[in-house]
Amino acid sequence: MTAICPGSFDPITHGHLDVIRRAAGIFGDVIVGVGRNSAKNYLFSLDERVELAAAATADIPGVRVLPLSGLLVDFARSHGAQVIVKGLRFASDFDFELQMAHLNAAVGGIETVMLPASSQWSTLSSTMIREIASFGGDVSAFVPAVVADRIRAVAAPQDKERADG
Ligand code: PNS
Repeated sequence: MTAICPGSFDPITHGHLDVIRRAAGIFGDVIVGVGRNSAKNYLFSLDERVELAAAATADIPGVRVLPLSGLLVDFARSHGAQVIVKGLRFASDFDFELQMAHLNAAVGGIETVMLPASSQWSTLSSTMIREIASFGGDVSAFVPAVVADRIRAVAAPQDKERADG
């Protein structure tokens, strides 16, 4: 069975990877759909988010990464996916995801399976990673090495600008 793990992945974290890995173990075939939420300002471009997610999941059998455009239910249908998988951390995640699950079931007839975040990553968020990174902090405990390296590379020219300025 094919499942979709949709998200912005700005950037992909160990929390995302944990859910993706577990989804692959359950469903066998997982598409990581990297999309754009118009309400969000992104650190990385869509191409970069896809590239980083692909590098971070390269060692997980049955997982591929694709850019997601349009409605999630249309994307799922066009790729033959029968289920959406979402990771849940807090009650607030559930409130939002329940609404999305109802909408996606009504609009596209697709089921949503919610996996509780593993305790180790249960409060991790990409927003916090971006916040730490914006102040030059070390995020390497929370993201795969390929992402930590890219964040350092993005931060380095800004540090230089600050030093120069
Ligand atoms: O959790 P995120 O990071 O905000 O998810 C972003 C994304 C792009 C995966 C999500 O906004 C999405 O699925 N967008 C596609 C449009 C859609 O189908 N929206 C939900 C139905 S109302």
